[in-house]
Amino acid sequence: MEQINRNKLFDVFKPDTDALVYLKAGTVKHRYNTDFEYSFRQESNFLYITGIDEPDFHVILDLKDRTWHLVMPRRDAKFAVWMGHVNPPEYYKERFSPDSVLYDDQLEMVFKKREPETVFCLTEDSAALFRGMGLECNTETLPEAMAYCRSIKSDEELVLMRRANEVASEAHRTAMKMVGSASYEYEVKAAFEHITQKNGMLHQPYGGIFASGSNSAILHYVKNSAPIEKKGHFMIDAGAEYKGYAADITRTFPVSGTFAKPLSDLYDITLQALVETTSGARPGVKMEDLHLHAAKVIVEGLKNCGYVKGDVEDMMQVNLFALFFPHGLGHFLGLDTHDVGGYLKGVEPIDRPGLRFLRARRTLEKGMVITIEPGLYMIPALLEPAFSDAKYKEFLNESALRKLLGFGGIRIEDNLVITESGTENMTDVPKKRADIEALMKG
Ligand code: GLY
Ligand code: MN
Ligand code: MN
Repeated sequence: MEQINRNKLFDVFKPDTDALVYLKAGTVKHRYNTDFEYSFRQESNFLYITGIDEPDFHVILDLKDRTWHLVMPRRDAKFAVWMGHVNPPEYYKERFSPDSVLYDDQLEMVFKKREPETVFCLTEDSAALFRGMGLECNTETLPEAMAYCRSIKSDEELVLMRRANEVASEAHRTAMKMVGSASYEYEVKAAFEHITQKNGMLHQPYGGIFASGSNSAILHYVKNSAPIEKKGHFMIDAGAEYKGYAADITRTFPVSGTFAKPLSDLYDITLQALVETTSGARPGVKMEDLHLHAAKVIVEGLKNCGYVKGDVEDMMQVNLFALFFPHGLGHFLGLDTHDVGGYLKGVEPIDRPGLRFLRARRTLEKGMVITIEPGLYMIPALLEPAFSDAKYKEFLNESALRKLLGFGGIRIEDNLVITESGTENMTDVPKKRADIEALMKG
């Protein structure tokens, strides 16, 4: 798979370019002044190009002859004592088939001998290293080139992403079924991660959200420590990571296993936004148009339920939707949960409430992988000031909305591959109310 990735990167550059590409692996991070190591996660670009999941390596790609060269740390005996077996260069040569394997103390010698016209690297730290050797460096081209390659997933990458989704989906179904018997949010997290870890997926791709009741309106709630409100609803936004590839799934459901008002009404609005934007997603469609479509479904739904009033177009005009749906509709997904490539060079976020936080402003193409994750929240910090804001006041049914200030929020999130004519939904967790109820009862 990494050979396909390397060829993709070589193809971005003109043949015979007299340049080297340099990428650095991740490093181990320690907790403050202790010898406690955070679990290692490889830097995503390095993983994409090499498939090597170890710290302190480097890789050089020679654009002139399309060769690649692995640079490994020279470990001493002390390292082996504390950290375990150290593989020799032959191991990497055989397993990953680079054109050569060098030690890191040979790096400067290699660059000086080769004397490329340019070194393409990702960071200013790397650039400083090569400038110190008297070489020309460019840090603008490579991030863009990597994002270009990583934006369109190969069939091989999609196999890994489907597997991450399969296990994350199983974890969601398991957690949904046990929430009624749990007392604290972290018990649900433990049940969820039991499934991902039992499947060998030892890292989470991001800090999962396990939120009871009003905590579900805190967009990045990661404390996961509160008692579960038995009469309220529960939100899980959590995934799995397989060989570096992320799944990022959200479901919201009643703790009791049975939907009742007002949750049922607000849930159906959110689900409709998800269903309509999912069926609208296909090559040629812009992410911002899907976002605005979801926003309109939410405003229309709130109007039908009597929470807002007035002309829907007027409400869209004043961005009323962003009071209830303040984040972006979705983002690219891949080696990073918020994957690279969401914005092409020169394209800026739209300066409009809600849309400002849209992490991908691309026209969809076959092979892109995106999340669709509309949300509908009752966030006191947004609604309280809006009740007295001349711009919004006339549209809000204040007395009805005030009753919902402690309600929390709803988000539903699926992971989609853009196909030739639409989407493939990789996520397999119930989302219709009746299907959720059936699963929770069963
Ligand atoms: N869990 C992060 C996100 O949904 O974007
Ligand atoms: Mn998510
Ligand atoms: Mn997401």
